[in-house]
Amino acid sequence: MIAITRGISDALGACELTHLERVPMDPARARAQHDQYTAALRSVGYEVIALPASDEFPDCVFVEDAAVAFPEIAVMTRPGAASRRGELAVVEASLSKHRSLARIADPGTLDGGDVLVLGPNVYVGLSSRSNADGVQQLSEILAPFDYAVHGIEVKGCLHLKSAATAIDATRALVNPAWLDTSLLRGIECIEVDPTEPDAANLVALPGARSDGRPLPGTVLHAAAYPKTGARLRALGLNVLEVPADELAKAEGALSCCSVLLH
Ligand code: GLY
Repeated sequence: MIAITRGISDALGACELTHLERVPMDPARARAQHDQYTAALRSVGYEVIALPASDEFPDCVFVEDAAVAFPEIAVMTRPGAASRRGELAVVEASLSKHRSLARIADPGTLDGGDVLVLGPNVYVGLSSRSNADGVQQLSEILAPFDYAVHGIEVKGCLHLKSAATAIDATRALVNPAWLDTSLLRGIECIEVDPTEPDAANLVALPGARSDGRPLPGTVLHAAAYPKTGARLRALGLNVLEVPADELAKAEGALSCCSVLLH
């Protein structure tokens, strides 16, 4: 199991912001938190490929938006924010060693943060970053592998995965204020605590191991949302809490910080 991550730019404070007011950001503190994130991935058996940060790309740590990896193929996206398109080259060079690649082309736009995979269904947020042409292109790329791709409206948040992430192929953690959960076909939706609207983003780690043994149901979740974390634990999940509040100021969440290869 491989996790591709990328370092934090010294220019983080100049990142794209859509729903948040800009506040001072501390790249050193963000790096310390990111180190805990990668340590958690390593602790359960992931090999972390840490790509170098770039001062040219303030958002480069959010590597998820640059590529979407499936077991069969990886798709280089075309981020909706023009300032982010140059982030792809370094990710592509790394990912091409592990997957054959397809690409989203103009006029399509697609951010990886909008792509939610639930078994054979792939939901794509129709957001300020990903458009219908991007959804159509992704659908055509994935058709040979029997995935069904569905566009889904999101409101009030940046990406679909701000509103919903997969616990496994049949369950999702959701904020029902930001998407119509009835559109997630056959999926059991676990709601965030209502006082923690930003808590729906987790990273499921289906390959997690300890001492060579499987650790089923392991997820990374942000330490800032303990009430939702308790809901996840009540499901019997193995919840690894990591601090991520400095990166949250840059409108990024945990899933944004890695591309996982299984
Ligand atoms: N700052 C994260 C993004 O807007 O893409």
